[in-house]
Amino acid sequence: MELSLTDHATVSRIIRSRRSIRHYRPDPVPAALLRELVDLALEAPSSFNLQSRSVVVVADEPGRKALTEATGGQPHPQEAPVTVVFVAESGAWREDRGDIWEQARRGGAWSDRFAAASPEDARAFHEDPRRRGLEREYAVKDAMIAASFLMLAAHAAGLATSPMNGWDEGEVKKAVGIADRDDLHIALLVPLGYPAETRLHPGRRDRSLTVFHETYGR
Ligand SMILES: Cc1cc2nc3c(=O)[nH]c(=O)nc-3n(C[C@H](O)[C@H](O)[C@H](O)COP(=O)(O)O)c2cc1C
Repeated sequence: MELSLTDHATVSRIIRSRRSIRHYRPDPVPAALLRELVDLALEAPSSFNLQSRSVVVVADEPGRKALTEATGGQPHPQEAPVTVVFVAESGAWREDRGDIWEQARRGGAWSDRFAAASPEDARAFHEDPRRRGLEREYAVKDAMIAASFLMLAAHAAGLATSPMNGWDEGEVKKAVGIADRDDLHIALLVPLGYPAETRLHPGRRDRSLTVFHETYGR
């Protein structure tokens, strides 16, 4: 797809003007828009295209109440009409995800040979993270990048979000029906809705403190 300078300017404006919003209007998010935003989140890249993440879209009252309690009563999940729960699937690499390889092969994105080798390649790669107890961390990476896509897509559509770390994982798992699953983990909660506040940019550290060249610290 050919992209233009206008596309660049638009994306740049969207990234720079997004803020984490803690207060929301009660107005519902139109169903078609919500669906489109979730689809855009799922466009995020993932390791081996294994898509080791899922989302649970929570919009009904009991679920929102449970998430509010799980976050210690923070206002955003209480006020936002929707909270998207990003679930990291640390056992994805062990599963038969043949649909993924087949889709990439069928669409011509991957050669027959590459698609055929992918399940074994993915399994071999994940042996090392498994040994080091990092399976969860690897799945969380897939979930977090999808959450970033959601936040930017939502902002571009006039909606607000806030990434949230402040919750009890056991309670969130219970709220979304996965209390008994050791292979599923909560990566992030993202309340979503129309903003009831504006926020100023809190700033970023000076580039000299965070951008290095060739080696860390230089
Ligand atoms: C991983 C992560 C977890 C966060 N958890 C919370 C949270 O639990 N509650 C909250 O109010 N904000 C939370 N935030 C929002 C940050 O406070 C916010 O991103 C930061 O202050 C910068 O503001 P900005 O997003 O408007 O640029 C979280 C952000 C990230 C990236």
